[in-house]
Amino acid sequence: MTAHEIVPRNIKFALAGEDKRNWFAGDPVATAIMDGASVLFPIGETFFIESVVYFRDRIADPQLQADITGFQQQEGIHSREHRRYNKAVEAFGGNVASLEARLAAEADKLRRDESPEYRLAVTCAFEHFTAMLAEHVLEHPEFFEGAEAEFARVWRWHAIEEAEHKSVAFDVWNAVGPKGLKGYAMRMRALAFATRIFVGHTRFNARHFMRARGYGGFRNLVLGMLRFSFVSPGVFLRTLPHYMAYLKPGFHPWQKDTRHLIDQYKTAYEA
Ligand SMILES: [Fe+2]
Ligand SMILES: [Fe+2]
Repeated sequence: MTAHEIVPRNIKFALAGEDKRNWFAGDPVATAIMDGASVLFPIGETFFIESVVYFRDRIADPQLQADITGFQQQEGIHSREHRRYNKAVEAFGGNVASLEARLAAEADKLRRDESPEYRLAVTCAFEHFTAMLAEHVLEHPEFFEGAEAEFARVWRWHAIEEAEHKSVAFDVWNAVGPKGLKGYAMRMRALAFATRIFVGHTRFNARHFMRARGYGGFRNLVLGMLRFSFVSPGVFLRTLPHYMAYLKPGFHPWQKDTRHLIDQYKTAYEA
């Protein structure tokens, strides 16, 4: 059950403008990695909503029904704002439509070849990724130090809402998904899939942006990305224990209580 109120904040962010090139503290590698991840959201979040809402009729609990509505609204607005974000950063180089087409092909394949239960398990796994990264940036305010203010604002806004609704897909899964070993095996297969897509596509997209923006040397494409992932800010290394928690048979997203992180930032977004 969710432990925090799910409040959709309908904000339009001002992300366009030449002054926002290399918005992440002037660092073209960090900027390209974040922009590469942003490309995943419009298609990804549309898929997540569809996968969760599919099971709405089978949910009896009125609280979970309300949570699904909150989830749907938040992800819908995220999808819209990341579409605007992606258009804004495309002005610095890169072809977002070509990157999205690769992801859309993966989503269509899931729709064609896999069960609704497996698509829900994939959504749960992606939600684990987004919660993990969201909580990381909320726990480390220095993460966006030196970043252009509106970009820090859009990412923190997204992070708060991901933390708020982190258990919705999982609660639906617990209600309707397969149980026991079958359920666990499906959840693990979905995690492996989501990891391959999240890491593989973010890396591919980031390299695409770097090349298109004139930063396509080995130093950026390989060393810069390794540095970001494992050294500074070391996102992948630092979130690894949280990632591994998903392997526990009795895992639930609220086993990590992050209400204080949400509360710490949410006043900044109150109208
Ligand atoms: Fe989202
Ligand atoms: Fe989400």
